[in-house]
Amino acid sequence: MKAALTKILTEDLAAIRLRLNEAEETLRAIRDGEVDALIGTGKKGKQVFTLAGAERAYRMLIEAMNEGALTLTTEKMILYANQCFARMVKCPLEQVTGSSFRRFLSAADGATLRAHMKQAAQTGVKIQLLLHACDGSKLPVQISIRPLAKEGGKNLIIGMVVTDLTESRRTEEMLRALTQRVVQVQEAERGQVALELHDNITQLLCAILVRSQTLADQLSTHDGPAQQEALKLRDLLGHTAEEVECITRNLRPGVLELLGLDAVLRAASTEFTARTGVVVTLTGVELTERLPGQTELALYRILQEALKNVHKHARAQQVSVHLARLGNTVQLLIKDDGVGFNTERPPVKRKGSSRLGLLGMQERAAYVGGTLTIKSVRRTGTEIEVRILLSPGNPTVN
Ligand SMILES: Nc1ncnc2c1ncn2[C@@H]1O[C@H](COP(=O)(O)OP(=O)(O)OP(=O)(O)O)[C@@H](O)[C@H]1O
Ligand SMILES: [Mg+2]
Repeated sequence: MKAALTKILTEDLAAIRLRLNEAEETLRAIRDGEVDALIGTGKKGKQVFTLAGAERAYRMLIEAMNEGALTLTTEKMILYANQCFARMVKCPLEQVTGSSFRRFLSAADGATLRAHMKQAAQTGVKIQLLLHACDGSKLPVQISIRPLAKEGGKNLIIGMVVTDLTESRRTEEMLRALTQRVVQVQEAERGQVALELHDNITQLLCAILVRSQTLADQLSTHDGPAQQEALKLRDLLGHTAEEVECITRNLRPGVLELLGLDAVLRAASTEFTARTGVVVTLTGVELTERLPGQTELALYRILQEALKNVHKHARAQQVSVHLARLGNTVQLLIKDDGVGFNTERPPVKRKGSSRLGLLGMQERAAYVGGTLTIKSVRRTGTEIEVRILLSPGNPTVN
């Protein structure tokens, strides 16, 4: 009896030793990184979460995402796609998996993706494309591509997250329409103020100027000091009338309609140098043909705003303004040698700064179908480049 009990206990002990050895081996493998697992401490003490368990949780997370998620080979064959992506391309999931991602792209977008694939496989990349769904509809998306693991240490697997941009595009369009409206209203109001200044204030100032001259003439030389005062008053009024005229011109550049962009840019540059002491050099082509009115106005307003920024922030010595035609594109370059700024993170907003200047310039350019890019290097200066594509029917510059 005793011998039988000893035998059972010995066998049990051997089995426990075996399981213990196995457990120890598993823990060693986890510790050494041979097995993907995580040890977490919970209510039940230390717990081991293996990759198999985590994978299920990841899969649930990816399926619950409001974005398309895919894994692909470098040849863009879809290995895995979530339901959200299948809904985006309006295609049953089983027809998505195993097919090529290229089938959801136009030839041009396919080429764009191909061009970015090398970078995607190394560091990752984000691009905006149009997805062609199976029902023929198109969806603007941003795809974020990252290299994932190498399958069996050989073939690289690419991970892709696809974000639907329809809503953000709609919001952008609404914002654009709104800012365009603001630009139109602003121009109309500026015109109105300019008209009132010209019709009322300038006229009145001129009348007082004439009266002060008459007064100075009527005062005899006996009234020396009084005559001097009258003359000073006349000069001061003359100066004020000039200032008001200058404001009026800036508000509504009537001369723009009359003389064209070239003349107005020259006048603005000369006036800026006289007022601030910052030298402005204007280079580039003479405009022999007029641009569309809105394009001329946009370029003029952009220069005005850029010069305002130079005066306010740049501490520059020189500004160069270059107007040129590159093929069917008009280019305006405004470059200063000032302090520069971080375009990603402009300095903290200061009192009296509404931070609308750069945004306004960008909207002005977009309003006439152009683009505006800002490059700035600290202690070197800032460069603003506007490019506006002239449509074939539009007049061009020579
Ligand atoms: N030429 C420049 N040189 C140095 N910093 C600049 C220049 N242009 C713009 N900045 C920086 O960028 C910021 C944003 O410029 P923006 O024109 O949008 O706003 P603002 O000039 O501060 O205010 P607002 O133009 O609305 O009166 C400025 O506050 C300034 O710090
Ligand atoms: Mg500004």
